[in-house]
Amino acid sequence: MPRTPRRPGDPPARGRQPRKPKRPKVPRDAPLDVHWDDFYARRGGRFYKDRHWLRRELPELMPAAVRADPLRHQAPLESDGEAVDRSDAFPAARELAGCGVVGLEAGCGCGAAAFPLLRANPDLFLLCADFSAEAIGILRERPEYAAQLRSRARRCHAWVADAGAAEGDAAWAACEALASGIGGLHAITLIFALSALERAPAARCVARCARLLRPGGLLFVRDYAAGDLAQKRLEAKPNRRTAEEDGFVRGEGTLARYFSRADFDALFDADFEALAVGFVERDITNRKQKVTMERRWIQGKYVRRGAPPLFSVGGRANVVEAAPAVRRPPIDAAAPPPPPPAGSADRAHHRPCAGGCLGCAQS
Ligand SMILES: C[S@@+](CC[C@H](N)C(=O)[O-])C[C@H]1O[C@@H](n2cnc3c(N)ncnc32)[C@H](O)[C@@H]1O
Repeated sequence: MPRTPRRPGDPPARGRQPRKPKRPKVPRDAPLDVHWDDFYARRGGRFYKDRHWLRRELPELMPAAVRADPLRHQAPLESDGEAVDRSDAFPAARELAGCGVVGLEAGCGCGAAAFPLLRANPDLFLLCADFSAEAIGILRERPEYAAQLRSRARRCHAWVADAGAAEGDAAWAACEALASGIGGLHAITLIFALSALERAPAARCVARCARLLRPGGLLFVRDYAAGDLAQKRLEAKPNRRTAEEDGFVRGEGTLARYFSRADFDALFDADFEALAVGFVERDITNRKQKVTMERRWIQGKYVRRGAPPLFSVGGRANVVEAAPAVRRPPIDAAAPPPPPPAGSADRAHHRPCAGGCLGCAQS
C-alpha cells in the first residue's frame, strides 16, 4: 500500500522516537559547573552506578548486620506514609537531634554514593551537596528522594553548593549553622570529587570539611590515583593539560586530577590524622576489545584532629587497605557474572558494571 506522505507537524510515526534537540556545545573555557551540568544533561543520572562497595569500605558507618554481610542487598528507601507534604527545607539541628550519624557527601552528583549508604544505615542522615544544579535536580527526582520526604523522619537533603567556595559562601551558611548546632558533623565522604576541583578550591574544600566535622569525626576519600590508565590516555593527547601541572580536561570538558600519596598528605595532614591511606589497583580485561585497563584509585580514611576517633569497629579504629598497593587478580569484564553469594537477594549487583558493585571491577 502506498504510504501517505508525512507533513511537517505530523506526530512521529509509531515506533519512532522524536529526535532530541541537539545541545549546543559548551565552550571549553566555560565554568566547570556548566561543564558538569552539560555532562549530566547528556548522560543522565545512570552514568555513575550506585557504589555498593562503600558498605564494605565503611564498616564504621554500618550496623552490625551489614558489617557481617556487606554484599547483602539493601532495599531502596521507602516512605513510611506518615508525612505526605513535608517541606524539603534545610534541616534544623532539632530535627536531627535523634539521628545517630549526620554526614555530608560533598560532590554528591546524582547520589551514587549517598543512597547505598542511606539504605544500609537507617540511623544515618546525609546532606548531599554538588555544584551542578542538573545533578541535584536528577538526585531529587530519584523515587527514593521523594519517598524519604513522604516519611516521618527525613533521611537526606540535597542542595546546590560549591565545595571549593571561599569561607563565608552563602550556600554553606545553613550547613554550617546545622553543624555548629549539633557539635559538628559525624562523617564526610568525598567520592571522586576532589579530582574535579582545581588545586586551590580542593584545598578550600578540605578546610571546609575540617570546619564542619566534629573532632574525632570521620573523613573518607576515594579518588583517581597517579598512574591510572585514564591519566596515561589524557597525557598522550595534545591540548588536554590545564595550566596546573597535574590537571587535565576530559573530552566532555570536566576537570580530572590524579593524586599521589604525597598530594593526599599535603591536603589532609594539617587537620586530619590518617587512619589508613592506600591504593586500590584493578586490571580490568575486556575480552571483546582485547584490552586490559589498569585502573588505580587512592583511598584515605581520616579522623578530624582534636579527639579520638568517633567510630570504631570491634573496639578499634578500622584500618583497611593499609598496604601501599593492593593488586587484585585481573577481572574479565566480558566473562559471565559470578554467582551471587548464598542468601543474597542482590543478584543485579553481581554483574560487571561501570559503577563498582562489590562483585565487579570498576570504581
Ligand atoms: C565523578 S563525580 C562523583 C559524584 C559522586 N560523588 C559519586 O560518587 O558518584 C564528581 C562530582 O563532583 C561535582 N563537583 C565538581 N566540582 C565541584 C565543586 N566545586 N563543588 C561541588 N561539587 C563539585 C561534580 O558536579 C560531580 O557531580
